[in-house]
Amino acid sequence: MKLAFLGLGVMGYPMAGHLAKAGHEVTVYNRTAAKAEAWAKEHGGRSRGSPAEAAEGAAIVFMCVGNDNDVREVGTGPKGALAGMARGAVLVDHTTASADVARELYAAAQAKGVGFLDAPVSGGQAGAVNGRLTVMVGGDEAPFRTAEPAMRHYGQAVTLMGPSGSGQLTKMVNQILLAGLIQGLSEGINFAMRVGLDARKAVDVIAKGAAQSWQLENRAPTMIEGKFDFGFAVDWMRKDLGICLAEARRRNAALPVTALVDQFYERVQERGGGRWDTSALIHLLAKA
Ligand SMILES: NC(=O)c1ccc[n+]([C@@H]2O[C@H](COP(=O)([O-])OP(=O)(O)OC[C@H]3O[C@@H](n4cnc5c(N)ncnc54)[C@H](OP(=O)(O)O)[C@@H]3O)[C@@H](O)[C@H]2O)c1
Repeated sequence: MKLAFLGLGVMGYPMAGHLAKAGHEVTVYNRTAAKAEAWAKEHGGRSRGSPAEAAEGAAIVFMCVGNDNDVREVGTGPKGALAGMARGAVLVDHTTASADVARELYAAAQAKGVGFLDAPVSGGQAGAVNGRLTVMVGGDEAPFRTAEPAMRHYGQAVTLMGPSGSGQLTKMVNQILLAGLIQGLSEGINFAMRVGLDARKAVDVIAKGAAQSWQLENRAPTMIEGKFDFGFAVDWMRKDLGICLAEARRRNAALPVTALVDQFYERVQERGGGRWDTSALIHLLAKA
């Protein structure tokens, strides 16, 4: 298929790579052109100077950029993807953004006869590189059926959750769960160390019981070592929690722990940890 991928960051670069490796004809765009050229050289695809140019003639256009404003610029801006897309094509947004911006793009796409899916992902850089992401999708069934086989090249679980915005709402649930979980993990590991336990041994045995989690298995060892210079950045997490808290306020859904953990992340940012992994919450306890 003729495909386009817009935004070749930590996530987009390997995701677009999976599409090319699967034999699709992929045209890419990246704001910093050097990255798009490097991608095209590595994967044999073409790069273009604007989202609209890259999207021209593509049956499906994927994008993975930063926040709501970036989604608007790359999706519906004067040189945005929709400006280059033909009727019947599908635009898939993998950015973690608000449900409002998803519905906004859905309406703009509909007016052009283009399908739109909000499809944020979970699984981090490793999931993108290994092609094992979870993809939570909102939108209509027909464009989902068109785009699902392509998304399977990097998604181990690709699920249509409901109407436009439902993918983003599901990702919010994911981030709410993570916030409480990582704070709990930080407190548990810090406690283990303070009371003189061998924290590694404690984590090993606990990982076989009811408190097991991906975060425990994958992040506890580096939390014990105090290593945070990798992974999912605190700055991104604060953007995501801001989206969750705004949605919750409007819907009258209480998020007391999430709101508190968001303040803790703000303190990590104040310590210069904006690019640290989200597991850096333990840093606040370790230095207390
Ligand atoms: N990293 C993770 O572990 C992870 C996991 C799940 C979800 N996500 C979400 O996935 C999205 C991307 O994350 P990432 O880690 O790939 O971020 P990233 O490495 O910072 O990449 C962002 C990409 O978007 C482009 N971009 C941003 N704003 C733009 C704009 N206004 N116009 C054109 N291009 C723009 C950037 O271009 P330049 O190269 O020019 O900067 C870059 O290619 C975010 O919404 C993030 O929350 C990330």
